[in-house]
Amino acid sequence: MHFAANWYGTPELLGYRLHYSKCYRLKFMSKTLRAASFLDKGGVGKTTSTAHLATALNEQGSEVLVIDLAGKQGDLAKHFGVWSEYQEEIEEDDAWPNISTVFDDSWSTITKKLGEAATTGLIHETGEGPDLIPAHPGLDTLDAELGNIDDAEERYSRLEDFLDTHVDPLGYDVVLIDLPGLSNNICYNGLWAARNVVVPVEPGTFEDEQADALREDLEKIGNNFGIEISLALVLPNKVDTRRTLDREYLETFDEKFRNAIAPEPVPYSQDIRYAAESGRTAFEIEEPSTTADRARSAYLSASSALLDRLGDGHE
Ligand SMILES: Nc1ncnc2c1ncn2[C@@H]1O[C@H](COP(=O)(O)OP(=O)(O)O)[C@@H](O)[C@H]1O
Ligand SMILES: [Mg+2]
Repeated sequence: MHFAANWYGTPELLGYRLHYSKCYRLKFMSKTLRAASFLDKGGVGKTTSTAHLATALNEQGSEVLVIDLAGKQGDLAKHFGVWSEYQEEIEEDDAWPNISTVFDDSWSTITKKLGEAATTGLIHETGEGPDLIPAHPGLDTLDAELGNIDDAEERYSRLEDFLDTHVDPLGYDVVLIDLPGLSNNICYNGLWAARNVVVPVEPGTFEDEQADALREDLEKIGNNFGIEISLALVLPNKVDTRRTLDREYLETFDEKFRNAIAPEPVPYSQDIRYAAESGRTAFEIEEPSTTADRARSAYLSASSALLDRLGDGHE
């Protein structure tokens, strides 16, 4: 006993224990989880899901960064009501470096010169909790520029390099990437970096065979790249459970995506559309309608399921 008390009490050992717990915490904190929205078609709710899942994760205590790779129109920044100020920066040629710069050969030189500020300068606050790296017109030519890189691994792993080297040290818990609704080199960079996808599915436009096609697509892309891409979350969106057809679709989704399906579907909600048009998510609506309220609850449960699944994959 006496020995043990002394043993614990020595300043060296106390220091060691503090050091150890700090290292453990730092190691734990540096585990930034990643997911990307994916489906090679537009209008299904990729951007809406990314914005709402990010906000829902933030509401539940996660530090979240969202990255808009979905195209120069800047939909995510619009969704958070911060596009017009960024657009001014773009018009005044002040938006450099920007998201397209991080894919460039010169990025390492830029970061050597600017240090961490090169990356933190890309990040904007959304006013709703999550941080955002907005889209930029440079994304327009990026796909073709990436296409000029001969080596496939080099071509597809630029975003991963950027996230590993420059974003992970910032200590975010989760990075969500919004992808364009087509399979191009930018999309492949997102998949390569995230390895986990969030897929919004809409009853009616999502036919039965599409579930299998989606799985095959992910497997094919993964095989081509020599990586595994997991279906982390399938989120039924714009669902009206009063309609028999929608309920049937939900059953099909449940069967087809048993391990990835979100706990609750996101209902069709005019409020989501209106909120998006006024640059907010449904979480900012002061007097939410029943559907908006249900949507919020669906996003909250979906985001904690996502967090669990991403966390499991990284054990
Ligand atoms: N659950 C929903 N209820 C009502 N409107 C929605 C819902 N989800 C998305 N929308 C609307 O559908 C449109 C397309 O959504 P968006 O997220 O931009 O799709 P994508 O990014 O896949 O192209 C937008 O106008 C958006 O506001
Ligand atoms: Mg979109």
